[in-house]
Amino acid sequence: MTPVIRTSGLVKDYGKVRALHGLDLEVEAGEVFGFLGPNGAGKSTTIRLLLDLLRPTAGTVEVFGRSPSAGGPALRARIGYLPGELALPARVNAGEYLGHLAALRGGKGAARIGELAERFSLDLSRPLRALSKGNKQKVGLVQAFMHDPELLVLDEPTSGLDPLLQREFRLLAQEAQARGATVFLSSHVLQEVEEVARRVAIIRAGVMVDVDDVRALRRRAGQQVLLRFAAPVDVAEFADLPGVHDAVVDPQDTVTLTCLLRGEPMALLVAASRHHVIRWHAKDRELEDLFMDFYRTAPDGVVDPAPDGTGTSKENVR
Ligand SMILES: Nc1ncnc2c1ncn2[C@@H]1O[C@H](COP(=O)(O)OP(=O)(O)O)[C@@H](O)[C@H]1O
Ligand SMILES: [Mg+2]
Repeated sequence: MTPVIRTSGLVKDYGKVRALHGLDLEVEAGEVFGFLGPNGAGKSTTIRLLLDLLRPTAGTVEVFGRSPSAGGPALRARIGYLPGELALPARVNAGEYLGHLAALRGGKGAARIGELAERFSLDLSRPLRALSKGNKQKVGLVQAFMHDPELLVLDEPTSGLDPLLQREFRLLAQEAQARGATVFLSSHVLQEVEEVARRVAIIRAGVMVDVDDVRALRRRAGQQVLLRFAAPVDVAEFADLPGVHDAVVDPQDTVTLTCLLRGEPMALLVAASRHHVIRWHAKDRELEDLFMDFYRTAPDGVVDPAPDGTGTSKENVR
């Protein structure tokens, strides 16, 4: 079967800046695929190339087996697109704007506007210029989904949405998948992608660093664990346990053990239970922590983990 999205050796230069360095990407029909990377990684550039809003410097892009530039409006009509930076006209209200888009699409989607607006608690009578960032994002999502396109290309769809609406978005993506659509979404937050996507590609500085099943990625990412005991412990008791990495007992604070846990926690729990545990804290690691792993495993790259050893100092990067 032809992949819905395929890029091969994709290069994009902005003047002297090379944003993409030969990207190879394949997204199969019917999958929800996450495109993950920090700001400036090249996600939006890739997405604009898929939509023919940019043209490649070198390499090829195919959507439904066709070059976006050759596919024209017929290809574009099969895609629901949410841009990273949504430009909305100021003078009309949300309902008029969405109705106008539906008319441009031959009436397709008009029937779903009301239902989608209700699900996202979007007031269609408000002028677009009066909408908050989150409400504008809702307008963007409604126009992307309303005509039930075969492919959804969504650039940071959950940015600006509160957790309740993020959940609504996930349901929408799942419904689209259930009717056979393919969903390609970007994010710089692993957590936002892992609940909806099955596979993810990780891009950094215009280079693909990884493609994997999201569960495998999460397993590899692991958790940063902190255990506090009623009395000092010896790190040797924990360091070589299955799934336990980077175990540290601070010489200044000999009752606190920190480690990275990958896989099942049983061995660690059993070892800990031989002592009096007074605190247990486990935190899923984030995208930035994964990048740390990449550096650390690079032959000449030596990068310290988070200075406090808990991996939590990289929080709130968005
Ligand atoms: N219009 C542009 N002109 C010049 N450089 C750009 C332009 N758009 C993006 N870039 C650069 O290309 C790189 C990738 O950007 P972008 O695709 O927007 O990343 P992301 O969406 O992952 O944050 C960045 O270094 C960015 O500064
Ligand atoms: Mg972007």
